[in-house]
Amino acid sequence: MSDEKAVSIPQQSGGTRAKDAGADGEILLKVTGLQKHFPIRKGLLQRQTGAVRAVDGIDFEVRKGETLGVVGESGCGKSTMGRLITRLLEPTAGTVEFEGRDITHLSTGALRPMRRDVQMIFQDPYSSLNPRHTIGTIVSAPFRLQGVTPEGGVKKEVQRLLSVVGLNPEHYNRYPHEFSGGQRQRIGIARALALNPKLVVADEPVSALDVSIQAQVVNLLDDLQEELGLTYVIIAHDLSVVRHVSDRIAVMYLGKIVELADRNSLYKAPMHPYTKALLSAVPIPDPKRRKAKSERILLKGDVPSPISPPSGCRFHTRCWKATQICRTTEPPLLELRPGQRVACHHPENFEDQAPQDTELLTEAKEAAAVLGRVPERPAEKTKKTKKVSDESGKSSGESGESPDGPGKSPDGPVKASEASEKSSDPSSDK
Ligand SMILES: Nc1ncnc2c1ncn2[C@@H]1O[C@H](COP(=O)(O)OP(=O)(O)OP(=O)(O)O)[C@@H](O)[C@H]1O
Ligand code: SF4
Ligand SMILES: [Mg+2]
Repeated sequence: MSDEKAVSIPQQSGGTRAKDAGADGEILLKVTGLQKHFPIRKGLLQRQTGAVRAVDGIDFEVRKGETLGVVGESGCGKSTMGRLITRLLEPTAGTVEFEGRDITHLSTGALRPMRRDVQMIFQDPYSSLNPRHTIGTIVSAPFRLQGVTPEGGVKKEVQRLLSVVGLNPEHYNRYPHEFSGGQRQRIGIARALALNPKLVVADEPVSALDVSIQAQVVNLLDDLQEELGLTYVIIAHDLSVVRHVSDRIAVMYLGKIVELADRNSLYKAPMHPYTKALLSAVPIPDPKRRKAKSERILLKGDVPSPISPPSGCRFHTRCWKATQICRTTEPPLLELRPGQRVACHHPENFEDQAPQDTELLTEAKEAAAVLGRVPERPAEKTKKTKKVSDESGKSSGESGESPDGPGKSPDGPVKASEASEKSSDPSSDK
């Protein structure tokens, strides 16, 4: 891959990064109560028998110049959310506002001007580029679709875009198969930039690439944002990809946003147990803190089906802190700290929202395991547990708060054995 540096990139108007502009930038995109239910039809009459609740009522906003990272396990609705906000899919309910204008139900014709402003980069650079078209044809497609002729002609503009993304402009007439995965993703990025968009939604832009190439593409996106004043929504299934490029991060679980916070708050003191579990899977580069990795949390069980999601809090079937209220009452997404919204009755690193509910559900006792801990002799146990606790305190809760919610331990999740000890009376199981 050529590492040629970008040249003569035009500055977009109003392009200030949220990283520089602070967290209160102007709102570019606002999503309220957004839902997408895919109907399930059966029989000769194709009657609707149910629905896949892929996105089930989410609210968030994206500010001008910022990067919002969206993370969650496979099937939690990230791509569907991306397609809804770019209006490639029609929402079942809720609203999408772009630059203060409601675009939720605009017709194809009315959407056309907005399509220039919002572009998508797709996950798989192998299937998203037509193998029979040259790179020139692929990157110039947006001009043809929008009926736009760039200044200086299409060829010159495409060559400029290729050099902006670090490719050789002379390769204009080559075909996708002549490029590596990372180079193909650069072609996808060039195509997305052709019309000078305001918002770019990148759906797992590096997950199909080798790890060694991933950083180059992520850095390219970061550089382009700085130089072009772009706003990004970057979708990924783990936190390591979005860690360095996001200003804020939304964590999704089964069609819902369970936590939305600025990057530093989320990494220092995650409040949702699911965020904590995702974070524990992120490699720790600092050797001094690497020992905390022995606290890796393994969530047991599969992600439930979005066709009939669990009642109450959707995470209760896999949460080590779940109590009766978690099964019956859906926790609202509340701003518990400035800029940190979380949907949980018993949040981490914060005061318990349902302190009266103390008995763990049966599922909670088996929900998570702590991996990689070195077997200890009983006499050493107290001391060692304290040490890991101190380290995990550094990585996930610098506030020093350790409220005593149900199933809580300052170390993190309760191991199945500990949970059983805490509530050994079977009659107390809900
Ligand atoms: N067109 C569709 N028709 C029916 N169900 C769909 C459709 N598209 C997505 N789904 C379902 O909606 C749910 C969410 O899918 P989505 O692709 O948005 O998840 P995702 O978080 O992007 O997952 P991944 O990380 O695997 O890409 C899944 O259960 C999926 O099977
Ligand atoms: S403690 Fe309850 S509300 Fe919070 S994530 Fe676990 S199950 Fe959901
Ligand atoms: Mg996806």
